[in-house]
Amino acid sequence: HDLSRDNTLGLPCRAERFVAPAGRDELREALDLVQREGWPLTLLGGGSNLILPSWLPGLVVRPALRDWWLEEGEGGCVHVHAEAAVVWHELVMALAARGLWGTENLALIPGHCGAAPIQNIGAYGVELSDVIEAVHLVHLDDGREAILAPQACAFGYRDSIFKGALEGRVVITRLVLRLSRIPRPRLGYGDLAGRVGASPSALEVAEAVCAIRREKLPDPAVLGNAGSFFKNPLVAADLAGKLVDAHPTMPHFPQPDGRVKLAAGWLIDQCGLKGWRQGHFGVHERQALVLVHFGGGSALELLDFAGRVADSVRERFGVTLAREPRLAAPARIFPALT
Ligand code: EPU
Repeated sequence: HDLSRDNTLGLPCRAERFVAPAGRDELREALDLVQREGWPLTLLGGGSNLILPSWLPGLVVRPALRDWWLEEGEGGCVHVHAEAAVVWHELVMALAARGLWGTENLALIPGHCGAAPIQNIGAYGVELSDVIEAVHLVHLDDGREAILAPQACAFGYRDSIFKGALEGRVVITRLVLRLSRIPRPRLGYGDLAGRVGASPSALEVAEAVCAIRREKLPDPAVLGNAGSFFKNPLVAADLAGKLVDAHPTMPHFPQPDGRVKLAAGWLIDQCGLKGWRQGHFGVHERQALVLVHFGGGSALELLDFAGRVADSVRERFGVTLAREPRLAAPARIFPALT
């Protein structure tokens, strides 16, 4: 099965076997089969934050559960249930159009709902962890279903337990979000406030976010990319202080834990790498944090290119950049010891 069109970087990839279960029973059958046969398993969502190798042995499972619904809560609160394969951006726009507040700043983030908690998607001052109420999942080793409260998800900046202790061990089947009918615009990031009226609707905010993103971020349907390729680095206060002294205009954001978050895009830009191209990959010309694939390249070539970008930043600023998209690595599921 060819997955070249199923990853937004447009990397060439073939899967030995592929299935897209549309319901819980089908999903369960696929997982049972993997365990019986001892096949390596790779889970796929929208493929927008993933670096795929050229060959995936075993079985690739892309959940296709696509329902979402609302449940009225108290005090203007609305619970949103969204299954794994609901397209995140479509859900955000539908909620904003209904006047529900909470996810509007996260408009136009590519990918499926089921993948959103893995990296705790975030933009324009809001993270998924601000609105998530529960994550429904199935454990791969014994098929047990569970519902995790946000406290159990270990959410951090572009991080969660699904990248840590639960990596390759669960399939996320549904999110429950808590939204509000009470207007709650969060316009503090960048020039978002300048782009909307005095008391904007949720839809107006979502549309302003879309407009900003379209100006800076390449459309994966046109130019392969996985959004930000590096995380914004968190550095010790003394290193940040030295860098700010040397570069007074450097964006820097002190964190509650005393560390300081720097803008990786700014660091790469300052190295003169914006628009730099080598072979099949390049640094995007409008946002240096995004690496783009012009076609014909491979995962190995991309990782080599990214390494060169990170080397430049390390040499110039003494700051180490960490990769943001995940490498797809098939897991082997062994039955739970009982
Ligand atoms: N900057 C430059 N040159 C560049 C890029 C950025 O000087 O080429 C400067 C900007 O002028 C600004 C600062 O760096 O002062 C931050 O830039 P921006 O607001 O564009 O955001 P970012 O920190 O580069 C992060 C997220 C994005 C998210 C935006 C908005 C990460 C890794 N990236 O980018 O998320 O959309 O903030 O909230 O945290 C993603 O994760 O894939 C993603 C796109």
